[in-house]
Amino acid sequence: MYLSRFLSIHALWVTVSSVMQPYPLVWGHYDLCKTQIYTEEGKVWDYMACQPESTDMTKYLKVKLDPPDITCGDPPETFCAMGNPYMCNNECDASTPELAHPPELMFDFEGRHPSTFWQSATWKEYPKPLQVNITLSWSKTIELTDNIVITFESGRPDQMILEKSLDYGRTWQPYQYYATDCLDAFHMDPKSVKDLSQHTVLEIICTEEYSTGYTTNSKIIHFEIKDRFAFFAGPRLRNMASLYGQLDTTKKLRDFFTVTDLRIRLLRPAVGEIFVDELHLARYFYAISDIKVRGRCKCNLHATVCVYDNSKLTCECEHNTTGPDCGKCKKNYQGRPWSPGSYLPIPKGTANTCIPSISSIGNPPKFNRIWPNISSLEVSNPKQANVCDNELLHCQNGGTCHNNVRCLCPAAYTGILCEKLRCEEAGSCGSDSGQDAPPHGSPALLLLTTLLGTASPLVF
Ligand SMILES: *[C@@H]1O[C@H](CO)[C@@H](O)[C@H](O)[C@H]1NC(C)=O
Ligand SMILES: *[C@@H]1O[C@H](CO)[C@@H](O)[C@H](O)[C@H]1NC(C)=O
Ligand SMILES: *[C@@H]1O[C@H](CO)[C@@H](O)[C@H](O)[C@H]1NC(C)=O
Repeated sequence: MYLSRFLSIHALWVTVSSVMQPYPLVWGHYDLCKTQIYTEEGKVWDYMACQPESTDMTKYLKVKLDPPDITCGDPPETFCAMGNPYMCNNECDASTPELAHPPELMFDFEGRHPSTFWQSATWKEYPKPLQVNITLSWSKTIELTDNIVITFESGRPDQMILEKSLDYGRTWQPYQYYATDCLDAFHMDPKSVKDLSQHTVLEIICTEEYSTGYTTNSKIIHFEIKDRFAFFAGPRLRNMASLYGQLDTTKKLRDFFTVTDLRIRLLRPAVGEIFVDELHLARYFYAISDIKVRGRCKCNLHATVCVYDNSKLTCECEHNTTGPDCGKCKKNYQGRPWSPGSYLPIPKGTANTCIPSISSIGNPPKFNRIWPNISSLEVSNPKQANVCDNELLHCQNGGTCHNNVRCLCPAAYTGILCEKLRCEEAGSCGSDSGQDAPPHGSPALLLLTTLLGTASPLVF
């Protein structure tokens, strides 16, 4: 049923004897897995890299608290108003719906007044630490696309660690440390994401930005996905092409934004003063009104649809791939090793479809070509060959945009956008940098020629 819709749109784009089509006006974030095109052989499918839309992932998670009985209200208890130790007439009672604060309330719709929130028991057992783990599990790899935002109803904790797992909770890595005093709490120098750069973007930092107790109005803690994206895509993420190019070529970067589980480790509640007021321990507790996690199912660029069925997220795989993340080739489609789709060339990417196994069919279908034949495109469609939209591809350092696909870099530069000094990449930058760079054949260009399978180097 989708296909007919796509057909009518794509009929407008059809060009004769060309695999590539004019680009949609808006930067399409890989939202089609295939289109029908016309060639000498008639109508055929053209396959492209594709991914599901980014969405609110809190609808699909399971939440687990440790210790399991840490939620307030069983038995009922009285707690004090935030910041006022003498206003202790608030009550938490798990058996009365209006007075209960179960974990689900972290994920319900906010915007009503008063806001609904999860709340822990109070710090009655001081000086024994009041610690809570909140584990969010998707049972599916997901890619984060926006900041994780945690809104506290209490003061923000004095110490907290955000952790992530990539293997369904078997192993955990810290994602970010939060403290009023990083040195004291974690023996780390305080940093902000803004202190990082393209080269240090994967560093795990401790931040003091979000940990002041009652003294400020703000109740929010961020894990800054967008600021990290911005090191590649620019301040307002206008150059997503650059980000996608980097994600494509740097597995570590891709993995950094990929999780199966998140864990919020609350280590010390907001105290707001130097000393804990032992006479009013009902002042100290954790309360969270909202957690935002936006992302998309990781489908290895082989699906645009991710279904939630039986409390399970699964990619609806195309390109004859299969598995929850489209991580392998279907039976009888193992004619070449599985590989993820690629964001390159920009903007349509490469599907890297699975092809029929040699034994099951004589000749593999013709249109599983990995990359379009750019040199033939130039010849057959000269007008399109030099179409370049610098909104899509901001080549740097004098690089020129080729076909909206690649930046052609001056000899001394390399990288998707010519953003890197070549000697820097080789670790050989000296005072006469640039001069010792090889005269031609930048890595990007070599890659291109290799994938095209043309023996003669492309001349531009
Ligand atoms: C929270 O999880 C960590 C491991 O990530 C574990 O060491 C710690 O004991 C847990 N804390 C609680 C209160 O369950
Ligand atoms: C996958 O296989 C089916 C036949 O089972 C075929 O019709 C389809 O075109 C194939 N898709 C791709 C992307 O190769
Ligand atoms: C690419 O196109 C050129 C010009 O039409 C042709 O000579 C060449 O054989 C093609 N290469 C491949 C790999 O199809």
